[in-house]
Amino acid sequence: MTSPLFTPFKLKSLTLPNRIVMAPMTRSQSPNGVPGENVADYYARRAENEVGLIVTEGTTIRRGGASNDPSVPNFHKPDSLAGWQNVVNKVHEKGGKIAPQIWHMGMVRKAGSGPEPDAPTDSPSGMTHTGKQVVDAPTDAEVDDMVQAYADAAAKAEELGFDCVEIHGAHGYLIDQFFWDVMNKRDDRFGGTSLVERASFAGDIIREVRKRVSKDFPVILRYSQWKQQDYGARLATTPDDLEAFLKVFVEAGVDILHVSQRRYWEPEFPEVDGENGLNGAGWAKKLTGLPTITVGSVGLSGDFIHAFQGQGAGTRKLDDLEERLSRGEFDLVGVGRALLQDPEWARKVHEGRHAELADYDAASLAKLY
Ligand SMILES: Cc1cc2nc3c(=O)[nH]c(=O)nc-3n(C[C@H](O)[C@H](O)[C@H](O)COP(=O)(O)O)c2cc1C
Repeated sequence: MTSPLFTPFKLKSLTLPNRIVMAPMTRSQSPNGVPGENVADYYARRAENEVGLIVTEGTTIRRGGASNDPSVPNFHKPDSLAGWQNVVNKVHEKGGKIAPQIWHMGMVRKAGSGPEPDAPTDSPSGMTHTGKQVVDAPTDAEVDDMVQAYADAAAKAEELGFDCVEIHGAHGYLIDQFFWDVMNKRDDRFGGTSLVERASFAGDIIREVRKRVSKDFPVILRYSQWKQQDYGARLATTPDDLEAFLKVFVEAGVDILHVSQRRYWEPEFPEVDGENGLNGAGWAKKLTGLPTITVGSVGLSGDFIHAFQGQGAGTRKLDDLEERLSRGEFDLVGVGRALLQDPEWARKVHEGRHAELADYDAASLAKLY
């Protein structure tokens, strides 16, 4: 029987041979923000080994405070864009499909760090998640410029020949800071007591992106309940809240929702549909009808949070994942560490070479292969 992972997927201009998506993973190996030949080869290696869609590492927009690391690639300077053009070309030569992940770190960047140390910190309210006011809240005009900077990057993505674009709205970075009540204290149209009001910033971004790219060019939004500042945080605590939140993006014209969980097998609202209930991507699909991407410990037994501190993980069977996919709980499957370590992971799964799938060794982070 063919695994449901290896069935095609089509949406607008995007046609994928299978359901495997390489999850966005920051590698910090682009000196001066320029992705070089080694970065292009790294993505091309996955493209030639049956990854359906590659979502690149986060790549930062043209606000000076978007990045805390000069080796994170940017998506606005001419030499960086030339580097990305080479990445796209190499991936396409191998028959792959690729989206850049458009990123702004917001207050996760410490003032004074990154490629533009003197740039001001961008945030919703200048307040940390613990309630400390560290900088002034940006003006309306500054927030509007942040929105435009995302749209500029998306337009550039299509111009360079990327197959779609992903907006990073997860993990406690800028967009997620607007979603999160403890960091967004604005009393203008970008803030408010309801999650729907705090979703306006991302709604505006998607609307502006939509205006700047072709109708047929798919736009993906990644979001997460959890934050790096607080793994237990939740934006939407009921299906009704989640439905209202996601409606903002549906109306703005998003095409695919990428729901970041640490472990895909965990139910989103167990109090509603039980311990074996739908996961985050399952609920997002059910409530919006849009295709969704699940992610989180696919093929691995432990989550990625301590991967940066050297934690590995054992392998895990894919049976339950395949069952959920066959039932249509979600449409696409994001794979992070397993693909970071092994460029042939998708091919091995397709060919049933399960014995060749290794445990995840955090030492893989050091190399870009
Ligand atoms: C080294 C590393 C870098 C990551 N960088 C990003 C990133 O730039 N953007 C993002 O949205 N998620 C990032 N993530 C999270 C992954 O996209 C993914 O959601 C997470 O690793 C869970 O998938 P996994 O369990 O298959 O590894 C990163 C994860 C790792 C391990």
